[in-house]
Amino acid sequence: MAQQILVTGGAGYIGSHVAVEVLNAGHDVVIVDNFVNSSHESIPAVEAATGKSVTFVEADVTDRAAMVSVLRDHNITAVIHMAALKAVGESVDQPLSYYANNIGGLVTLLDAMAEVGVYQFVFSSSATVYGDAKEVPIPESAPLSATNPYGQTKLMAEQILGDLAVSDDRWSILALRYFNPVGAHPSGTISEAPKGKPNNLMPSVMAAARGDLDQVMVFGDDYDTVDGTGVRDYIHVMDLASGHVAALESLSARAGFDAYNLGLGSGISVLELIAAASKASGIDIAYEIADRRPGDVAASVADPSRAKADLGWSAKLDIDRACQDTWRSQKR
Ligand code: UFG
Repeated sequence: MAQQILVTGGAGYIGSHVAVEVLNAGHDVVIVDNFVNSSHESIPAVEAATGKSVTFVEADVTDRAAMVSVLRDHNITAVIHMAALKAVGESVDQPLSYYANNIGGLVTLLDAMAEVGVYQFVFSSSATVYGDAKEVPIPESAPLSATNPYGQTKLMAEQILGDLAVSDDRWSILALRYFNPVGAHPSGTISEAPKGKPNNLMPSVMAAARGDLDQVMVFGDDYDTVDGTGVRDYIHVMDLASGHVAALESLSARAGFDAYNLGLGSGISVLELIAAASKASGIDIAYEIADRRPGDVAASVADPSRAKADLGWSAKLDIDRACQDTWRSQKR
């Protein structure tokens, strides 16, 4: 049945792809975004990619009155909450901003939802909640820890959601622990356009392929991995988006709080990703080995089996496809 879905952060990289897949699943979408790390162009891009219109409200999730109005005015039935700050290094420099936005925004939104009587919630969590995991692939049952304020906000958010679900059994809440999102919509019309200098590997690799960066700095080649460089589970953003639809559509048949990994279940190294991007772009991407980046772990790979068993979801698209789609979006 078609639902009215509020997508916070829906103009961002992941949010705009989630909005596309929620629309493609036949639901109506209302996007709330404050454009701190996203662009106005995302909204028409989502509409062009789907041939459907979206309702857009420019607002901040920390604005309680604005959230109550959006939920009420658009008869929202479920919320996918992705609006948050997400740069690990920045969170170390500006912890209060991360707690205010990521925790303050979450609590405000949940409080507004309770006032209006909306109890279905999908939360954008992260594999960062596993800290430096001992067991790889990582199951959801692995111990949780945080190594920086950004990670703390994701961990605390999951704890808040768990407490809330215990307090009132009308809540149905799923946290989705993303591994490393990459790729873009196959049309090439929606892409990741980080403001400022890219922090993550794929945007840096693409900047080097475009010629905007001389070379990719490879942070460490002495890890205990296949070639010494860091291994990650790179999930195509379209797969990630379909995971949100699967979670959303399971909410009404369940209750309480639960968390699921969204990943492929297999990892590749930094050098393997650079090679895949070189192949997809036809450009020999230059790189240089540098020191390890503080706080990085050797390997982070999902055990995605619970999402498959419970949500009927699994990732389908590999790294070659992700590099091809990302490169197409860069060329436009
Ligand atoms: N890397 C480089 N050079 C770069 C950027 C990254 O070698 O210029 C390496 C990193 O050392 C790591 C891998 O590429 O081995 C991936 O790094 P990213 O920065 O792309 O991603 P991370 O795994 O560090 O971070 C991601 C999310 C975070 C989240 C974290 C843990 O971006 O939000 O996963 O789940 F906290």
